[in-house]
Order: sequence, then structure tokens, then C-alpha cells
Amino acid sequence: MREHVLILEPSGLRIAIGEQTTILEAIRMVGLQVSSECGGRGTCGKCRIILNPATAPTRVETQLIGEHDIDVGVRLACQHRISFDTRAVIPHTSTAAKILASGVSSTSDFALDEGHEGEFGIAVDLGTTTIVAYLLDLSKGNQIANSADLNPQVIFGEDVMSRIAYAMKDEKGRTLLKQRVLDKIDELSTMLCNESGVPSNKLSRLVVVGNTAMHHLALGLDTSSLGLAPYEPQMRDAFTSNGRKIGLKSTPDAEVYFAPNVAGFVGSDTLAFILSQRLDLADDVVLGIDIGTNGEIVLSKRGELFCCSAAAGSAFEGATISHGMRGQDGAIEHLTIREIDDAPEISVIGGGAPRGLCGSAIVDTVAELLRNGLVDAGGRMKASARVVDDTKAGLAYLVVGAGEHASKSRIMFTQRDVRQVQLAKGAILAGTQILMQVANVRTEDIKAIYLAGAFGNYIDPSSALRISLFPPVDLERIIAVGNAAGEGAKRLLVSRRSRGVIEQLRRKINYYELATHDNFADIFAQATILESVHD
Ligand code: FES
Repeated sequence: MREHVLILEPSGLRIAIGEQTTILEAIRMVGLQVSSECGGRGTCGKCRIILNPATAPTRVETQLIGEHDIDVGVRLACQHRISFDTRAVIPHTSTAAKILASGVSSTSDFALDEGHEGEFGIAVDLGTTTIVAYLLDLSKGNQIANSADLNPQVIFGEDVMSRIAYAMKDEKGRTLLKQRVLDKIDELSTMLCNESGVPSNKLSRLVVVGNTAMHHLALGLDTSSLGLAPYEPQMRDAFTSNGRKIGLKSTPDAEVYFAPNVAGFVGSDTLAFILSQRLDLADDVVLGIDIGTNGEIVLSKRGELFCCSAAAGSAFEGATISHGMRGQDGAIEHLTIREIDDAPEISVIGGGAPRGLCGSAIVDTVAELLRNGLVDAGGRMKASARVVDDTKAGLAYLVVGAGEHASKSRIMFTQRDVRQVQLAKGAILAGTQILMQVANVRTEDIKAIYLAGAFGNYIDPSSALRISLFPPVDLERIIAVGNAAGEGAKRLLVSRRSRGVIEQLRRKINYYELATHDNFADIFAQATILESVHD
């Protein structure tokens, strides 16, 4: 029987299902829930999912789902089998994604604007995967509440390039992507106001930071130049407008500020990260690294700034890993391998049955396979009691066998998965090494590596060092700073002086295009090796 890949959102879980299996059956097989009052008989209309791509609706679906919903891909999970690889969003899922909202800011002061008593504002960190919104009191500069959700554009592709490709198809695609993200910002803003008792007409400012593609898509700008070398953005400068002109319904009269971008793949979120930690004021050599679908790397050599973007791919987000998923209930978040019998010891978010591995466990798994001699430095797996030769997947480490930990299916980490991690970590390490070359610094000069974002927050630094994701610094020099871009956005919301700083940072930062480096291919190939690299 032929099988196809079904990607379930918002978890990002990938499953192979046969053509005879309904999507409802597949969702239940992996322990997820979707409403199904009629038990799959096609009468209640409750098992709604959003499919992309979606095939033509069945007769039952046209009766039970409105025309508008049919147009945007809503289908009934019990009525659909798939005949090609498809992505399905389960709306209002009970397994909400674990989204990192908090961050650490540098203690250096910043000037709070005066004269805003009784006014409030929203700072938005617009990520490729998640959107985080913070409600702040403009007169005091303090955060009142925050709210977060998956970026609704995820259904059009997990990574930036697939969104760009979708927007490039036609004007309709670009408009749709813009509308989806503005609707979500409206929804988060309204929710924050309702929950905090702040009247929405008291929102006088809204600030957005994000990568360049998210910035362009939110403003409805042409993204075609971001899809082709030399990946030039349409807009680098900061952009100020108001909610009505942008198309935001929740804040029509608010001033809206989009922070500046550096390059096609280094956006205002990176500048906000620098601002939040004041990497530009560092007395020593420090690195700032934010690993998402791209890795943005910043090197500050006593305030002189260098940056680049490394195409890490989506392995650390679980997207290109056989049993990878986002960090939410059911995701294995940490893993160690017992030396005595190669058996894994796992911890699962939410404590229930494991369904897949999120980024931190993916790094742990490779580090532990390496530590136990189950893969070599070149990334080759070796057969053992727990590394099995699967007929479909080839050599694979059995993370969870059928029935173990109350799991409904096996979870494996394959030889191909190890290769995916090598490519991702090779891109990050090569980018870091090239910036170090350009800035003429050595590993022993690095006083700290600040890790921004969810991946940086949850990974075990010792596992990251074991697979040489970073240059070999002492463990205590690796510091997680949480959602640093969000912290930067909050500063921009309450301080015009900070806006001046970020606009200056944009002009003074040295952007380095990795592809133009003479030895990039050699450095990258060397960087995919899994053992510590010393310069
Ligand atoms: S479960 Fe009732 S219509 Fe699908």
C-alpha cells in the first residue's frame, strides 16, 4: 500500500499514512485529539482541519462546511484520505505549543519617553513559526501581559523560502499571507486588552520586529528579490505608519513602527537582539546566535559588529527529522543514552506518552550517540542492540519501541536524521568561523556566546558543544537569553531613543554574505564533523 507524509500542525509532527487511512484515524493513531461527535460517520461536521494542499471537497463536506471555509482549505478529517504529501492544521488543539515569550535584557539603561500617561502599546515579535505580542504601559515601561500563537502562515510552509515562493505565485498569495498575519496580530492585541482590562482605544503605539521575509509579508511588499541571489530586501529603513494604513483593525489610530532590516536574511529581529543585550557596547569579544530555520550570527569585537545568516534548514525545528516535532506536549525534550545497554532515558514535555523529538532532544540524541560510539565523528551509525536495520528507514536508533512509554508507535532517529543535523550544525559553525576570520578573532578571545530564541533556551549546552555546534568555549560562557528579539521590541515601543540606536546599528553593522567567501565549501564540509574543532 502506498504511503504519504501527513504533517500535523501546530506540532509539526510528521507521520506516514497509507492511502486507505483517514486523516481522523491518523490523528488518533499518534495520540492527538480532534472533535468527532459522530465518531467519523460524517454527520456532525466537528472534525474540521485545514488542509494544504487540499483536494476537492466531498459531497458531505460541501453540505457541512461553508463555502468560504471550503475555499481556505477547511475539510473534515473523517472524510479525507490523502493521495499525496499534505499538511493539516488541527485548529484549537488542546496541545498548545510551548512558545518562549520571556527574555533577558541587558541592564544598561534606556530612556523612557515622557508624556504618555494612560497610554499603552503592543510590541510584536513576528517569527516564522510563532508570533509573540506584549502589552506595555507606555508611561511606566512595564509589561502588563503577553500572548503568543503559531504564525498562521505556517500552513503555507514552515520555512521562509516556501512562504516567499507562495507569495511570489501571484498577487492573491501575497495578499492572503499579509492578511493572515495581520489578523493574528489583531487577535493577540484584542485578547491582551480584554484580559488586562485595557481599552483598545488606549493603544497608541505598536512595534513589529521580525526577519526580513516576515517584515515584507506583513507589509505586503514584493518578496521576489528575497527568493533570488543576491537576496536584496525591498526595504531596509525603519518604517513608521499607522494601524489603519497598514490594515490593522485592533489599533487603527496607533502609530505603527516596523524596525529596520540589515539584509535579505538578517532582519530587525537580529537588530532587536543586539539592542536588548547591547552587544554593541561589549568590552570584549562576544557572539550572539539565534537559531531558527535560519541561523543569525552576530559577532561583537569590542562594539564593532559583524553579522551573517547561515542556512541551517529546519532540522533543529524538527521539520526534516523523521520523528521531529515542535516543543509541545508529547515532545521528548531531553535524552541520555545509558552506556551499559545503549537504552535511552527520556523526558517528555507534559509527562505523557512521547510522540516525537523536539530540537533540544535532537541535539541530545546526536551528542549521546557520539558519546556512546554509536555514530562516529563523520556521522556514520554503527549497528548495536539499539541501532536497528529497519527495512524502510535503514540504520536507525530506536528511541522508543512500540509499546514503550505507552507510545502508540515507534520513534526512531535514523542515519538520515544524523546527516540532517550535521548539515544544520555545519552551517551554524561555518558561519561563526567565517565571521571570526573576518573579524580576526580566535576562540580563546570569545568571552560569551549569547543564545537567543527557543532553541537556544532549551538546548543542553554540553550536548551542543559535544557535536561542535559552537566553537569550543567553556560551558559557562554559553548563556541563554530567551526571546531577546521580543525584549528589543519592548524597548523600541517605549523609547524613541532606542529607535535611534537601532537605526544606527543598522548603518554600522558589517553584514557578511557567506556564499561569497572563497573557502566556504571547505569550511562548511569541515564544520559538519561532529567532534570539537579547535582553531
Ligand atoms: S467526525 Fe463527525 S463529521 Fe467527522
